[in-house]
Amino acid sequence: MRVLTVPRAELDPEAALDRLLSLGPVDITEGIGGLRVLFAESPSLDDEVARALGRSPGRLHWSAPVLRDGGTTALLEVRPQRVAGLWLAPVVDGASPPAPTPDGLLLRDSPVFGSGAHPTTVLCLEALAELPPAPRVIDVGTGNGVLALAALRLGAGVALGVDTDPLAVQEARANATLNALADRFTATLSGPDAGLGRAPLVLANVLAAPLQVLAPAIAGLVASDGDLLLSGIPEGVAEEVTRAYLHVGMRRGPVRSRGGWTCLHLRAGW
Ligand SMILES: C[S@@+](CC[C@H](N)C(=O)[O-])C[C@H]1O[C@@H](n2cnc3c(N)ncnc32)[C@H](O)[C@@H]1O
Repeated sequence: MRVLTVPRAELDPEAALDRLLSLGPVDITEGIGGLRVLFAESPSLDDEVARALGRSPGRLHWSAPVLRDGGTTALLEVRPQRVAGLWLAPVVDGASPPAPTPDGLLLRDSPVFGSGAHPTTVLCLEALAELPPAPRVIDVGTGNGVLALAALRLGAGVALGVDTDPLAVQEARANATLNALADRFTATLSGPDAGLGRAPLVLANVLAAPLQVLAPAIAGLVASDGDLLLSGIPEGVAEEVTRAYLHVGMRRGPVRSRGGWTCLHLRAGW
């Protein structure tokens, strides 16, 4: 991905916008500095853009995009979005955040995973919103805390978020404070096998391979008759991951997919 900046002074932004849109950009925004356009990489990109703008390729201003969601999402900016009945509102560093609202979640704009732009997060939020609020939630791979904090907004009693990345733990705590949820949220630097106790609802949006390896530890966090939501699973390996959890005594539940990703809902068989 590459970002093209077309300075406002250099040409008529509306005409430029039409021509650039015809090239199928990933994202486009207009600000004080002019147009900023995010393009997927292609061998002919420089020539196509130069032709669309009527200038030589050497006079184009390109830069690298800012990456979110642990380097997996390239966006020009994160925008507020409604997911599963909650407004996810980005808070940019230095800007004064709005007051927390009962149906909103303020999320610091950071490189840590959890902006809400990634389908794996969205799938998990949608599945979460369909479950009754649990008295305790454990969120394995909490990232910026988005899932655990959403669970609290949706009525959960307390939530524990664990992550092996110190920056994630720091961001999750900061987001809890930002949303006035710090009294019901704890974040710790650990994996799922650190004596976390059990909870009626366990969330884990981690990649498929660690989800399989960690199946005994993650399933071991689920209380009797409890629910487990697993996300971050490419559709093609969903059955393989399911089998790892059936093997440790979980039962199948609903499956949802989007954009090639799957979120599994499993139930405790104990
Ligand atoms: C895909 S992100 C999910 C973030 C957030 N929960 C969401 O749904 O958007 C996965 C997170 O899991 C963390 N992680 C990876 N392996 C882990 C493990 N074994 N134990 C705990 N966290 C882990 C990563 O550091 C990363 O923050």
